Amino acid sequence: MKILAIESSCDDTAVAVVEDGRNVISSKVNSQIEEHRIYGGVVPEIASRRHIENISNLTRLVLKDADLSFEDINAVAVTYAPGLIGSLLVGVNFAKGISFARNIPLIPVHHLRSHIAANYITNPSLKPPFICLIVSGGHSHIVEVKDYTKMKIIGKTRDDAAGEAFDKAARMMGLPYPGGVIMDKMAESGDENKFSLPHPNITNGKYDFSFSGLKTAIINQIHNMKQKNQQLPVNDLCASFRKAVVDCLITKFTSAAQNLGYKKLVIAGGVSANSLLRRNLESECKKRDWELYKPSIDLCGDNAAMVGSQAYYEFMDNNIASMDLNAYATKTIE
Ligand code: KG4
Ligand code: ZN
Repeated sequence: MKILAIESSCDDTAVAVVEDGRNVISSKVNSQIEEHRIYGGVVPEIASRRHIENISNLTRLVLKDADLSFEDINAVAVTYAPGLIGSLLVGVNFAKGISFARNIPLIPVHHLRSHIAANYITNPSLKPPFICLIVSGGHSHIVEVKDYTKMKIIGKTRDDAAGEAFDKAARMMGLPYPGGVIMDKMAESGDENKFSLPHPNITNGKYDFSFSGLKTAIINQIHNMKQKNQQLPVNDLCASFRKAVVDCLITKFTSAAQNLGYKKLVIAGGVSANSLLRRNLESECKKRDWELYKPSIDLCGDNAAMVGSQAYYEFMDNNIASMDLNAYATKTIE
């Protein structure tokens, strides 16, 4: 079954064709980062306008690259939640148009479910059940993936998402958007023990995270040094901040896996590209003889291949939308 998948939940316009959930025939992402960078973050109004301009041509390019025409496509899938509402609506309406014109099923896909599915493409043998840490610009969740379309959230952030905390800390240091990527690179040559930052621990919500205190701590540190006219040791700040975020993520995730009896661990979302998270979690899992699955770096961020993968399993579970499908800025993964 060949699914044409559309993703436009934030600032990437993405289109892909995926066969039977695992085989990516073609996948292209049109990033708007350069344009949003001058504002220090995504401007929703600009994002939707660029999606409108790009989506038709990108679809044509993907079909050409796949050497397919619309007659070969069996269904169209689209990210319908969560995300920027104007951006989501562009993809949803475009997908509806294709579904109506070609008389093929319209499959609604939850953005975070698709991030998990990036792992089905990278790791062909991976099947639920497993436990997953989803860390992106807008979300930080620990999720029990009981089946392809059955999930239970067991922990989430009380305030900022992990990616959001990286981006805000980076902005304070004058680093370009999206800050997580550049902080990760700079941290590689910094001293992670240079600054002692808080490791916020939520005790009443066993597996919940909190990153706003950590963000405030680094911002205060930066302010202090700026007021004293000291040169910012950016690499050390990045390394210390990255270490604190990654420690919090790994502590909660491994304790959830331990207590719930999971030996198969999966990471997903933009922040799953973080090199320290990947390294340290790998060694934690090795110690305990657990399996760790990670998406390839090019599938960590937003793309449509992951949407096409998840859509196959949504279709198998009869999750098909009608022409009144709406987009939602927030919606639970469950
Ligand atoms: O999943 P994603 O592409 O978009 C959302 O659904 O939000 O995640 C984007 C987030 C941004 O906050 C970005 O800074 C962060 O992922 N990110 C990273 C790294 N690569 C991307 N954060 C830390 N380390 C990285 N290597
Ligand atoms: Zn995402």
